[in-house]
Amino acid sequence: MIDFNAPPLKNVIEILLLDMNTRKNILLDGKELLKKNLPEIKPRAQKSHDEKIFRTRTQAEVFTPCRVVKFMVDAIDDGKIDSRWLEIACGEAPFITTRYDAETGEDIPLDNRVGILDRKLRAMPHAENKFSWAKRALQSVYGYEIQGDSLLIARANILLTVADFLGEIPDNDLAEFADIISWNFFQFDALNPPKVQGSLFDAPPVPQIIDWQAGRKFFFWRYDIKKFDFVISNPPYNEETENTSDKPVYNYFMDAAKKISDKAAFITPARFLFDADGTPKDFKIGMPSTNISVSGRNKACLKKSSRSPLVTTSSP
Ligand SMILES: C[S@@+](CC[C@H](N)C(=O)[O-])C[C@H]1O[C@@H](n2cnc3c(N)ncnc32)[C@H](O)[C@@H]1O
Repeated sequence: MIDFNAPPLKNVIEILLLDMNTRKNILLDGKELLKKNLPEIKPRAQKSHDEKIFRTRTQAEVFTPCRVVKFMVDAIDDGKIDSRWLEIACGEAPFITTRYDAETGEDIPLDNRVGILDRKLRAMPHAENKFSWAKRALQSVYGYEIQGDSLLIARANILLTVADFLGEIPDNDLAEFADIISWNFFQFDALNPPKVQGSLFDAPPVPQIIDWQAGRKFFFWRYDIKKFDFVISNPPYNEETENTSDKPVYNYFMDAAKKISDKAAFITPARFLFDADGTPKDFKIGMPSTNISVSGRNKACLKKSSRSPLVTTSSP
């Protein structure tokens, strides 16, 4: 599925490991991931049962099935190559590309992939300007994730997707693609964001992202402008708390989405639709929209709720 020791990943692994803001490498358990002793990093579908359970418990890691990705991307996709998309808490980035089935790990043929980058690349003209089209498509997709190993897999999935569509990529272009990916997909803890006003010495660096079309950098965590056309996410629902019931956190991710975009699609716990959870009662997103509830393998229905924010997909 993903081989970091084979081309094209091997050729640009140094770039894929970089945190563009710190110019150090991305972190796993507080330590930099280094090319010279890279641990074995496998997609969730290939991890052991125990490891999956552990990661679900500690990091709320549950990956979104393709049929749900398709449903949500269909609901908001405007078909434009330059529309900017952000996948919040992206894990292995299934809303960007569905190279394999998140549950079984089975490869998915190009024509059946349903992520937003898959769609943008499939719309690529067959002429010789394929490379600039692919670059534009890449520049329009962003994501962040707290866990360094999942982030590296997300970056690899995106580069491999571009290679699947383009065929062999010359080294210069490959390095340029890897550079865009490492800028656009960054390590970030959304529940403990750095303070913008923090002292230079004690605050972690605020991630900056690039608006490639305008050729400018922005502080990601400053809510002064709408930076994305669409936000899409299956965020963590709860934070584990000792000796008391778990605290909902998905509302923070939804709040954050509202500040950076006018349109979003989110998966929420089903109880959210009925005000039956511990989410603060005054939590209202305030965007007109519809909730889409998915139950069973292929069934989906629209529901109205008093909270009715964004386009949301509820897991049963
Ligand atoms: C339910 S999984 C969804 C992953 C992926 N977006 C998908 O749909 O398959 C939630 C993801 O949130 C990440 N996460 C948990 N806490 C986070 C935080 N504070 N900031 C950013 N990401 C976080 C987890 O590591 C995990 O990958």
